[in-house]
Amino acid sequence: MADTARINAVVSDIVEGIRAAMFKHNVTYDEYQIAQSFLLDAFAKKDIPLLLTTFFNTTIVKIEGKMMGGSKPSLEGPYFIEDSPLIPQDGELAAREQDQGRMKALLRGRVTDLDGKPLAGATINIWHSTPDGRYSGFHDGIAPHYHRGRIITDADGRYSVRTIMPTPYQIPSDGPTGALLTAMGRHTWRPAHFHYKITALGMHTHISQAYFEGGDYVDDDCCEDVCAEHVVAEKTDDGVRIVEVDFVIPEAVTQALAA
Ligand code: BEZ
Ligand code: FE
Repeated sequence: MADTARINAVVSDIVEGIRAAMFKHNVTYDEYQIAQSFLLDAFAKKDIPLLLTTFFNTTIVKIEGKMMGGSKPSLEGPYFIEDSPLIPQDGELAAREQDQGRMKALLRGRVTDLDGKPLAGATINIWHSTPDGRYSGFHDGIAPHYHRGRIITDADGRYSVRTIMPTPYQIPSDGPTGALLTAMGRHTWRPAHFHYKITALGMHTHISQAYFEGGDYVDDDCCEDVCAEHVVAEKTDDGVRIVEVDFVIPEAVTQALAA
C-alpha cells in the first residue's frame, strides 16, 4: 500500500531542494524552459535511465549500504547479463583473440556474512569492459560470453578467477546525458573497473566495483561512484595484477529499508 506520509515527505523535500537551487542561482524563465525541453528530449531518446544512473544511482546505493551494513555497495550500471558462463575456481574469463596481449589480473577474495561466517556456494558475477572500453553483449557485436562469468565460492567462502585488465571508458556521450555533462564542463569517462554482483541464499544481493589505485579518472569518475573502500592498491605478482576484494554481505531483510 502506498505510504502517503512518506511520499509526501520525500517529494516535498525534493521540490524544496530544487526551489532552493533555483532561488540561489536566480534561474530564469528561459533556463526553466530549456530544462523542460531537456527532460522531454531525454525521455524521447530513452536516456532517462542513463541520466538517473549518472547522477543518482550511487546515492541510492550509499543509502542502501548505510541501512543494510556490510561492505559498501556500488552502482550496477546497464551492462550486467544474467546467466553468464560458469567459471571454475582458478578458471579464466573468455577473452577475444585480439585481447590476449593485455595485462592479466587475478581476482580473489572471500565472501562472509556480518558475523564473519564464510558464505559457501555464493554466486559471484564478474564483468568488465574490453581493452577498448566496450561491453560484450551490448557493443560492436561482441559475443556475450567474453569478459564475464559466474564463480561459486568454495567451502571457505573464497573465490579466485583470472581475466585481463579493463580500461577507462566513456559512458554513452552522444545523447542528452552526455550533452548535459559537457554543458557542465564535465566529461563522460569512468575509471577502469571490475563489476561484481553477489547472490547467496537468504542474503541481500550485493553489487560492487573495484577500481585501481592511481588509475586515470579514479579521482574524477563521471558517475561519482568511486569511494576509498573500492580502490584496490597496486599489487602485482609475476606481471599479474592482483585484485584482492573481500565482501561482507548482510542477510536479506525486506523491511530494512522501509524503517
Ligand atoms: C558501468 O559502470 O558499466 C556504467 C555505469 C554508468 C553508465 C554506463 C556504464
Ligand atoms: Fe562498467
